Amino acid sequence: MRFHLEEVQIVFFSGTGGTKRVADAFYEELMKREIRVGLIELGGENSKNEFTEKVDSAGFYILIFPVYAFDAPGLIYRWIESLEGDLSGKQAAVISVSGGGEVWPNTGCRNGCRNALEQKGIQAVYECMMCMPANLAVKINDDLAMWMIRAIPEKVCLIVNDLLAGIERRTKYKKGPVCEYLSKLERRKGHLFAQSLLITDACKSCGWCEAHCPTSNIQMMGEPARPVFKNQCMVCLRCVYGCPFQAIQCNSSVIFREGFDLDEVERRMKGKELKPVKQCCKGLLLVGVKKYLLE
Ligand SMILES: Cc1cc2nc3c(=O)[nH]c(=O)nc-3n(C[C@H](O)[C@H](O)[C@H](O)COP(=O)(O)O)c2cc1C
Repeated sequence: MRFHLEEVQIVFFSGTGGTKRVADAFYEELMKREIRVGLIELGGENSKNEFTEKVDSAGFYILIFPVYAFDAPGLIYRWIESLEGDLSGKQAAVISVSGGGEVWPNTGCRNGCRNALEQKGIQAVYECMMCMPANLAVKINDDLAMWMIRAIPEKVCLIVNDLLAGIERRTKYKKGPVCEYLSKLERRKGHLFAQSLLITDACKSCGWCEAHCPTSNIQMMGEPARPVFKNQCMVCLRCVYGCPFQAIQCNSSVIFREGFDLDEVERRMKGKELKPVKQCCKGLLLVGVKKYLLE
């Protein structure tokens, strides 16, 4: 099959920066191959969902998102729903980014997105999982985080090779009712997460959280001004990990007390030799990551 790669539109969402690195690598790789490419960051730091760089006539979309409860974040669905006009003949690659890799039940994380694209007449011709450090629940060591960061350019290069060769790749997988239900939790119960957050006295009323929330869900209110959450939280954790004063705290043990910052990991690991993957990637929860890094 020939993919319409003359002009490509990358569309991505990234809560805490992992997926952004993947999207930037796709952008660079396509530029290197002299393909006209645009980059849209949904809920981006300054974009507030404005299209930052749009290729109107793109025949091919590359959609990239972090896996949230075995599904794509609601923002991705909203973007697909917002597409208008005649989209027949357009094609898409759906790239998911997860902390756990291509293992059950993550394997079904692209189903909904693929169906939504196809309802709009866009053919989802390629699917793939990439791995980045998990930003909740499964804390990984710095060596493993570095292996994942370093793997990005090579993995992206292989995917672009596939696309240029017109190799179709689709996952056949049914999620089952329990995973279907859990998938919708971020959209149904996100507001409860936001309401459970505590604003400590470390808050300096700087408004960073308000300015960076991807769904404009935070408003600084009161005297002194403090963040107040509305009911559009998508649990991306950007405010929790990004607050310059660590003033947004969460009682849940799945959130890392020490924060989540990939730039910081790179600084810590600069010049250090990494332990072999087999040594730093152990345990049932990392089976998918190990396979991803070793294959
Ligand atoms: C609300 C939420 C749900 C998540 N669910 C999953 C999941 O079901 N499977 C998984 O492997 N990783 C899961 N993760 C981890 C993220 O997919 C992973 O850390 C990703 O790299 C985050 O990308 P980002 O830094 O661009 O936000 C979840 C993260 C969040 C915040």
